[in-house]
Amino acid sequence: MKIAVIGTGYVGLVTGTCLAETGNKVICVDIDAAKVQKMQEGQVPIYEPGLDVLFHRNIAQGRLTFTTDLAHGIKDAQIIFMALPTPPGGDGAADLSYILGAAKDISKLVTEYKVIVNKSTVPVGTADKVQAVFKAHTNVEIDVVSNPEFLREGVAVEDFMKPDRVVIGTRSERAQKLMSELYGPYVRQGNPVLFMDERSSELTKYAANSFLATKITFMNEIANLCEIVGADVDAVRKGIGSDARIGKRFLFPGIGYGGSCFPKDVQALAKSADENNYDFQILKAVMEVNEKQKTVLVDKLLKYYKGDLKGKHFALWGLAFKPETDDIREAPALYIIDELVKHGATVTAFDPEGMANVKRLIGDKISYVEDQYEALHHADALLIATEWSVFRNPDFEKMEEVLSNKVIFDGRNLYDLEKMIDLGYYYNSVGRKLID
Ligand code: UDX
Repeated sequence: MKIAVIGTGYVGLVTGTCLAETGNKVICVDIDAAKVQKMQEGQVPIYEPGLDVLFHRNIAQGRLTFTTDLAHGIKDAQIIFMALPTPPGGDGAADLSYILGAAKDISKLVTEYKVIVNKSTVPVGTADKVQAVFKAHTNVEIDVVSNPEFLREGVAVEDFMKPDRVVIGTRSERAQKLMSELYGPYVRQGNPVLFMDERSSELTKYAANSFLATKITFMNEIANLCEIVGADVDAVRKGIGSDARIGKRFLFPGIGYGGSCFPKDVQALAKSADENNYDFQILKAVMEVNEKQKTVLVDKLLKYYKGDLKGKHFALWGLAFKPETDDIREAPALYIIDELVKHGATVTAFDPEGMANVKRLIGDKISYVEDQYEALHHADALLIATEWSVFRNPDFEKMEEVLSNKVIFDGRNLYDLEKMIDLGYYYNSVGRKLID
């Protein structure tokens, strides 16, 4: 099939590349000329495991191309994906201006039937708004489909190639048929393609992310309580996770959820409920708890250093909001840095992929090193904010040589408590016994 993807951000680029991989001819359109040129020259603009291989292969075989020219991009496309940003507006509601703007531009160019697919996370009713934009500008028949993405950063290619499910929101049989044909190769294992109306599809995405954010937040609160009552969150996690109704996944406590989706989507769903005069109380609690959770490590540090962090120097392992990505959007590490610097401390950080983005954002507010052990030099303590694999089994002997004190505040529960006792560390993790 011939496909156009508008927007080559994280979702658009993964979508376009993975759609090309099954033999479709995909043209990606973006207004950022410099980025388009780089992609034309074969440079992948983001770090996402597995993407580069598919990207280069499909470019080489002529199935994946890039342009800034919208008219050229959509001319032959049977299906046009919109993968555009929906940032929170001033009031927390999703800002639809990119999507509605693109819809208007496309509506002025279409000359024959096309399916317009909305991949972005958008409030209920957006498909209707997009349809209305087309109605206002063209008589050409088009169908607007809601097809939310459930890709996790770091495993996005795998998630796209083998999705747990594909949700397609449209009541048009013609669009259903085309979408079903397009996704066929991705669900051969038997995972479902779920057809539903546009509004249910739009809400499904928000409900999924908000449910997962709630699940994590619940575990974060259980972890906080564990510390107070002397229970071990790992034991509790396994205890409840073995119940199939609860499930083992997404029960890891930490320093709050971050990233480009959960914070924005929980906020947008709560806002959307408010606008519909529904007080979605649980989501408000989730946001409030998560806000506090982002700086639990700092609270622990303040307690340890009796409220005085002035002149202290900390090593920080991990900046990205999660491992296997260079994405630092809403990364808890950034909130920790802010608080530490506010309290007069200094920080040296190491992250395998996220440092360039943090440098761009906060510059020399902290210092950066290219080696995880170098970060420990003269540090009063090590703080861990992201569970990268390279942090899971470090060379403890080497660490001892450079750390001023054997003190670790771990926001991701990477180390075995027994091991830390043996090694003689002060080890403060989340929801587990304090080793001191
Ligand atoms: C999420 C959804 O999983 C995905 O389906 C959707 O399309 C986009 O949003 P992503 O943002 O890539 O994906 O990250 P995810 O792996 O879901 O983690 C989100 C946040 O939750 C991270 O900050 C992570 O550290 C945190 N988390 C996750 C926990 O604190 N504990 C867990 O057990 C799992």
